[in-house]
Formats: sequence, structure tokens, C-alpha cells
Amino acid sequence: MAALATAPARTDGETVSTRSHLIYFSSTSENTRRFVGKLGRDAARIPLYAKDAPLLALEPYVLVVPTYGGTNGEGSVPKQVIRFLNNPQNRALIRGVIGAGNTNFADNYCAAGDIIAAKCKVPHLYKFELMGTPEDVDRVNQGLDKFWTLLSQKQK
Ligand SMILES: Cc1cc2nc3c(=O)[nH]c(=O)nc-3n(C[C@H](O)[C@H](O)[C@H](O)COP(=O)(O)O)c2cc1C
Repeated sequence: MAALATAPARTDGETVSTRSHLIYFSSTSENTRRFVGKLGRDAARIPLYAKDAPLLALEPYVLVVPTYGGTNGEGSVPKQVIRFLNNPQNRALIRGVIGAGNTNFADNYCAAGDIIAAKCKVPHLYKFELMGTPEDVDRVNQGLDKFWTLLSQKQK
């Protein structure tokens, strides 16, 4: 089974900080968690419950986010992800978003990824359904490698 490294870099009792370049949200159905696990990359999970210590990003990251409900995009971004992105440091460090969803939702397919990409002015890099296919896993892994290489070249 692919490793799913979710170990926090540091916990100070009030926040959990992470140096992972991949951050994701997944509800109790855990489709997104399974997909991220198949990537075999270090990844950090946005906490599910308000009582959990909030997650703080320390490094640039790509966000993987499932869409929940809503029509015309309204109410599509999980509230846990809104809370995470309301932290100015987390918002400053996002570099791209990968949307998870279900094509049964037609026009609202992966709407949360579109909304976050527009609000944070970052690219919506990829969309996949449910827990993703082996092809999605390959394409996302190759895409992330290229994306981070390009970004590091731009910063030079
Ligand atoms: C109540 C509910 C509403 C959903 N709304 C949408 C939607 O508007 N657009 C979409 O693409 N997927 C939608 N989905 C599908 C989820 O995004 C999809 O099942 C995803 O894999 C869930 O990820 P998770 O199990 O990691 O939380 C919805 C699923 C549920 C249960």
C-alpha cells in the first residue's frame, strides 16, 4: 500500500504546522484521502472537526479539494477549507488547486476547485472523480513534478 504521510512537522498545542507541498481535505467518506494516498507523496490533511487543532502551512503547497453541494458554485467549498484559507499565511502559500468531485453534479463538477482558483488567483491544475483512476494518479504525479520544477525555475 502506498504510504500516506500525514505526520505534522510540529505541534504547538494550538496549531499543527506542515512543510508538505500537498495539502488536502477529505470528509468522512475519505475518497480524497484514498486518492492522495495513491500518489505516495508527503501530504497533510485539513482537520475535519472545529475542535481539532488548525493546520498551518509553512511551505508553498497545492490544495486537493472535493466539492460539496450547492448549485451554481454557491456553498461548494467545504467549510473546513474556508477556515483553512481564511488564515492569511495559508492563503499566501497556495500555488495551485486540484479538484475532486463527481460528474453526476454536471455544471457543479469540481466547483470548489474553480472557486478557490479564482479567489486565490492560482491555476486549477486537474479534476478527478471520487478516488481517481490509475491514470489520474499518474497524470497528477507527473503534473505536480512539472509544476514544481517550473515554479522553482521562475523564482530564479
Ligand atoms: C452531499 C454531497 C454533495 C456533493 N456535491 C458535489 C458537487 O456539487 N460537485 C461535485 O463535483 N461533486 C459533488 N459531490 C461529490 C464529492 O465531491 C465526491 O464524492 C468526493 O469524492 C468526496 O470526497 P471525500 O470523500 O474525500 O470527502 C458531492 C457529494 C456529496 C455526498
